Amino acid sequence: MSLTEFPAGARIAQPGIPFPKVTIPALADMKRQGKPISALTAYDYATARLVDEAGVDLILVGDSLAMVVLGHENTLSVTVDEMLHHTRAVRRAVHRALVVADMPFGSYQGSVAEGLANAVRFVKEAGAEAVKIEGARVELVHALTQAEIPVVGHLGLTPQSVHRMGGYRVQARTPEAMRQLQTDAVALAHAGAGAIVLEGIPREAAAQITAALDIPTIGIGAGPECNGQILVFHDLVNLTFAPAAKFVRRYADASALFRGAIERYREDVEHHTFPVDAESYHLPGAASKSAPAGFDDDDAVVNRDAWDELSEELKRELKQA
Ligand code: KIV
Repeated sequence: MSLTEFPAGARIAQPGIPFPKVTIPALADMKRQGKPISALTAYDYATARLVDEAGVDLILVGDSLAMVVLGHENTLSVTVDEMLHHTRAVRRAVHRALVVADMPFGSYQGSVAEGLANAVRFVKEAGAEAVKIEGARVELVHALTQAEIPVVGHLGLTPQSVHRMGGYRVQARTPEAMRQLQTDAVALAHAGAGAIVLEGIPREAAAQITAALDIPTIGIGAGPECNGQILVFHDLVNLTFAPAAKFVRRYADASALFRGAIERYREDVEHHTFPVDAESYHLPGAASKSAPAGFDDDDAVVNRDAWDELSEELKRELKQA
């Protein structure tokens, strides 16, 4: 392939948002330079575009989509094919952020060979730039790295182990468990992991692990000393229909916003106030003579009566359009 053009560079940078493309080595540089890494999940084209255009460094197509998008009780039932479908949509939207695909439960626990074959699918069929796997699977991380597939590890509260853990519980609360977690993190780093997500562990444990590693840690419920932070998109904007975990900060109330918009739409339909004539097409010649230029030609959208009926605000908007 020609190295003269990298497609990700094609999008114009947003003001104030650094370009170029975020890569696995770039994450390590950010750690060295003390620059915090922002990460967020996304599962579809529209939200992935928003997340990418907002300058978030890493987008994880998380298996949390099983719960927040597909409505399952936990993450265990989502399949490789479903994850591939969502990863492709995200990949089409993203130009700058690093796109990481979560390997779902059952796609890598059986054997290294199976994990490798499934990881190849995420890179080849969906355009993932790294895969994330849960647990201290050192042999698999090594094999993936040897196969040129960057890996993000995931330690601590690993949701695919929900049954073994007996629920979603904070992990590594004893000195022994903390030591084991740090040993696992170091082993993953030595095996070639490019970053490690630390989830649901005491801040003190995350701080120690972060200091012990050359690769970045990305925390979720693991305190502020991690090299980066990740949240689930639906938690951030309140689209989960459930109380938030302690570590979640809600930055917007999309539930209230969407609910209000949907209710107003339903009322407008029921009261015959949507659509108005200005929102309808006309036969040639039936358009308003009083509408501004551009509204009274063959594909005009308003006629005189409808134009007069519109609020001043909507008229202003239509004239500017
Ligand atoms: O699936 C997911 O969203 C995750 C994050 C919580 C790290 O694994």
